[in-house]
Amino acid sequence: MRRKVKVSASIMCVDWLNAGKQIEILEEEQIDFLHFDVIDGKFAADFTMGSSIINVIRDKTNIKSDYHLMVNEPKDLFDTFEISPGDIFTIHQECCRNLHRDLISLRRKDAIVGVALSPGTPIETLDYVIEDIDVVLVMTVNPGFKGQKFVPQTLRKIRDLREMIDRMGLDTQISIDGNVNTENVPQMVAAGADILVGGSSGLFRADVSLRDCIASLRNSIIEGQE
Ligand code: DX5
Ligand code: ZN
Repeated sequence: MRRKVKVSASIMCVDWLNAGKQIEILEEEQIDFLHFDVIDGKFAADFTMGSSIINVIRDKTNIKSDYHLMVNEPKDLFDTFEISPGDIFTIHQECCRNLHRDLISLRRKDAIVGVALSPGTPIETLDYVIEDIDVVLVMTVNPGFKGQKFVPQTLRKIRDLREMIDRMGLDTQISIDGNVNTENVPQMVAAGADILVGGSSGLFRADVSLRDCIASLRNSIIEGQE
């Protein structure tokens, strides 16, 4: 049976002056998650959005949230964000002094627990913790900015991770974030992706309407499943 591949829309790439309208479209098109990138200017060299902006968007929609914290020691922010059942909350392996402790705290909050790996971080760093992870987010660009180039060797990482999860008999999902576009989606899906984060290159493009981007992305998913 085909695995359902879900789409998460990266809100940092939204057309901010038309954000309300775009979120309505995402809802009509039944996008699975809204992806919120939170960056602290330390782990990654930018600032994006905090809870005050995220909550305005959350109040406007029923779409589940997919938090992606690119911040050092994310545990200090666990109480800042509202987590509802069905929301994904992802922290970076590279940012936690005690990753397992942080995963247990998130589990207690009823989050779908995610761990992200930057392109240079091996999947072996998840040995002995992967059993407590619901979603591994594989970053296919370096954390921080939209519009970056795909790091090609991350495709091998997705394949290796899929193999590791299947070998261990886990149902951990694989999410892919960074330069997700119609060209590389078929390969990402064939390699084992379960969730795709659509940003400036796949969903929120200046030259193509949001609805057309969603349709093309969905066709590329089917292509990868064949
Ligand atoms: C990168 C962000 C991404 C964003 C980028 O740090 O985490 O969420 O989707 O999308 P692209 O690469 O398509 O601009
Ligand atoms: Zn992200």
